[in-house]
Amino acid sequence: MEKLVDLISTQVAQAFAQAGFDANYGRVTVSNRPDLCEYQCNGALAAAKQYKKAPMEIAEVVATQLAESQNFSRVEAIRPGFLNLTLSPLFLQSYLQQMAQSAHFGVPADTQPKTIIIDYGGPNVAKPLHIGHLRSAIIGESIKRIYRYFGNTVIGDIHMGDWGLQMGLIIAEVQERMPDLPYFADTHTGAYPDAAPFTISQLEEIYPTASAKAKVDETFAQKAHNATYQLQNGHPGYTALWKQIMNVSVADLKKNYANLDVEFDAWLGESDAQPYIASMLQMLQEKGLAKQSEGALVVDVSEPSDTKEVPPCILVKSVGAALYATTDLATLVQREKDFHPDKILYVVDKRKSLHFEQVFRVARKSGIIRPETRLQFLGFGTMNGKDGKPFKTREGGVMRLEALTKEITEFVAKKIAENQIVSQDCIDDTARLIAMAALKYGDLSNQATKDYIFDLDRFSAFEGNTGPYILYTIVRIKSILSKYDGDVSAARLVPASSQYEKDLMLILSRFSDFVQLAYRDSAPNVLCSYIYELAGAANKFYHETKILSEPDPEKKSGYIALIHLAKLVLETCIQLLGFSAPEKM
Ligand code: ARG
Repeated sequence: MEKLVDLISTQVAQAFAQAGFDANYGRVTVSNRPDLCEYQCNGALAAAKQYKKAPMEIAEVVATQLAESQNFSRVEAIRPGFLNLTLSPLFLQSYLQQMAQSAHFGVPADTQPKTIIIDYGGPNVAKPLHIGHLRSAIIGESIKRIYRYFGNTVIGDIHMGDWGLQMGLIIAEVQERMPDLPYFADTHTGAYPDAAPFTISQLEEIYPTASAKAKVDETFAQKAHNATYQLQNGHPGYTALWKQIMNVSVADLKKNYANLDVEFDAWLGESDAQPYIASMLQMLQEKGLAKQSEGALVVDVSEPSDTKEVPPCILVKSVGAALYATTDLATLVQREKDFHPDKILYVVDKRKSLHFEQVFRVARKSGIIRPETRLQFLGFGTMNGKDGKPFKTREGGVMRLEALTKEITEFVAKKIAENQIVSQDCIDDTARLIAMAALKYGDLSNQATKDYIFDLDRFSAFEGNTGPYILYTIVRIKSILSKYDGDVSAARLVPASSQYEKDLMLILSRFSDFVQLAYRDSAPNVLCSYIYELAGAANKFYHETKILSEPDPEKKSGYIALIHLAKLVLETCIQLLGFSAPEKM
């Protein structure tokens, strides 16, 4: 379906042409004075210069051309030359009717659907998930859903940090604690044990212990580095132990992400890039791109147009294991081979922007990525506490994701228990849904690149620009619909008879505009602004209208059809944002 603003733009353009002016002046926009009109066209002001006429004169002839149209209830030429347009309720109703009957509410799929990889989540195996990973998961998940809504094939890749020093640290620590395990015996032949020698909670203790030890114990640190190097070079015992670490950790990660309603299509990690590293380094050297410099292998990626220095991308240091850039480049080799993507989007902390700039430049220069493939870095800001510093626990430690979701859920559970609307056995599930909405909307309603302050009270309030407020609006509509004595799906829209009704219809008719903008800019915050406005209009309408006690059955059916459509659009939007609404709250 065409956007409503485009439909009327076409019509106004025709009116300009009929009056003897260039049709391009007929561009219509949503009014910036909603108290005066719904749409406006400023074309007469611009046309005045070309035709050497008073703008008001042009606006008036165009207005006369449009006066007969059934689509407007009012067309006014206003000094110094604006055209103010008000839609006829019948036109708006028929537009919404068509929207309601169309797949995706008439939002057209992308005419050139793409294969897109989204690199998000990025947890580090065996290290606890923290708030930094939360933002990536929340933003990436929403963008993935938005891309899919437009018909793209989207592969969400978790890109685990599963190949770095933390693995060597764990291996070295396990060896010190249990030296007799077969993973460490050079003489071992045959299969390794099926069961892991640790549980997830033991693993969560092993890593920090080892990490702290390496800081004070030079010999231990050396052992860990050594183990990392040997693991990356195929040591059979370490590889078997690494697989056990992976099994235990991935099971735990899956549980954690499922709790957040975040779902990955590919559970790949840095380790999956290892097989591509050697040949990639060879290729980069053969092409003369990678050069030895001060004992390291580097690629110069500076460009004449750089305004600030972009240092060379370091691929291999004289000693030691795969570097971050090397892994990310080899991952690109692998992604190109496995998925042949049109675009790869990285949802990573914005402080990593230089790293990705370097990686992208090497990938382009070397042809690892085809020229037409788009590489995009979406860097997000930090989630801060009320003190403006990165969010911490009350004790001042790094806040773990699980602890945070638990805290919000308990806070919300207490609140809804007090309201006594939700039955006792539904409190936990309801609290979880509300907590997710609070957390995700609190994050997504900000522009991703900005830092924001996490405020539990504000995020979980049922009033104001919050996730729970949006859910509350949906729940309220559900409750009215459940009390309707007719068949909701048979209810038909009628032309608006009040301004509240028309305002709700107007904002509904703009769904396509907002969702397309959110898609174009990979910006879930655009959808948040939209649903906040939509929820506001729905609540006003509900307050000002006696829906269920309306005596005229046709009118009543119209009201029901309208709030039903509002509910469907709101539900679609929160689905795209990554959360859902309970039955009651
Ligand atoms: N594991 C990394 C971290 O915790 C994030 C990975 C981001 N993705 C990437 N392709 N480098 O900081």
